Amino acid sequence: MWLFNSSIGKKFIMALTGICLVLFVTFHVLMNAVAICWPGAYNSVCQFLGANWYALIASAGLAFLALVHIIDAVILTLQNRKARGNDRYAVSVRPKSVEWSSQNMLVLGIVVVAFLGVHLVQFWARMQYQEIIGSAYSYGGVELPAAAGTIYLQLAFQEAWTLPVYLIGFIALWFHMNHGFWSMWQSVGLDNQIWLPRWKAISCWWVTIVVALFAIQACVFTYRANQKFYLTDPDLQAQYQKMVQDEVNEQMEILGAEYTSIAMKAQKAAEAGDFEASSDAQMKLQEIRNKAGELQEAAQAKIEGLSNLASATKKNESAPAPVSAPQTPNE
Ligand code: HEM
Repeated sequence: MWLFNSSIGKKFIMALTGICLVLFVTFHVLMNAVAICWPGAYNSVCQFLGANWYALIASAGLAFLALVHIIDAVILTLQNRKARGNDRYAVSVRPKSVEWSSQNMLVLGIVVVAFLGVHLVQFWARMQYQEIIGSAYSYGGVELPAAAGTIYLQLAFQEAWTLPVYLIGFIALWFHMNHGFWSMWQSVGLDNQIWLPRWKAISCWWVTIVVALFAIQACVFTYRANQKFYLTDPDLQAQYQKMVQDEVNEQMEILGAEYTSIAMKAQKAAEAGDFEASSDAQMKLQEIRNKAGELQEAAQAKIEGLSNLASATKKNESAPAPVSAPQTPNE
């Protein structure tokens, strides 16, 4: 198929995947803006997206696009080098900044991918991935709700190295996206003397605004993380605690339904004089009551742990979560 075999087909795929990735990055910067203006609403969006089927499909699609983009780029670069030898940059009009970035695309690409690696470990691996494997990221002995995006902003940006690493990543991203836009217009044939400068100006503005916003956002997140805003703000604290309580309520509802059905069986067995079945059911009911008590206790410990997280950060990362006094199971 020409799309995969011919050079122009591969360039077309590069352009198409590139546009999708630029759109994702633009969407991402807008999401971060929500985190800055309305942190609580940001957590609600994180909760809405989470590891639901539509978010998982979007994440898988994004990973696929990025992979195709990278593989295609490597193949095209190798083919170009083979075909052109040392004269691989011999094209008509090319501004100086583009020339610099195209000659350093490999290094820029590695920096962007390295940034992404660090970034995904700091966020995706602690949030969506934990939900996928049915686990939760623990910090300071406290299991954190995956949807509490602002806690993960705190954990990432309270580290002194995060801001410089991100800023380096953003610089590489700026060059990479600028070059990408430039070569994309060439690939799709929009490289005439009238349209090329226009597209280039639009691209340059777009990329510069997006990357500048990322840089400003990273500075704001760092400032707030140093103030421990995301751990001490009363509204956010209430939201984290509600997330834990909602989760426990969901589990309690399931247990409640199980309890009602067994209680009915126990009653029927008692009425029929089947004492063995009746005492069996009573034992099961006791087990459910115990489980419900444990769930409430664990949720209480989590909530207390979350409210004490500010003192566990930085100074004493391994401080155990305060555990509430053992309660007798609900009778
Ligand atoms: C200030 C800068 C940034 C912040 C605060 C930030 C924050 C986040 C957060 C909170 C997540 C959510 C993880 C999840 O729900 O699983 C995420 C995911 C992600 N971010 Fe960023 N991000 C920033 C910059 C960037 C940049 C510049 C790129 C791309 C070059 C990027 C690429 C991604 C990708 C690919 C994901 C995974 C998306 C998915 O799971 O579908 N991020 N980021």
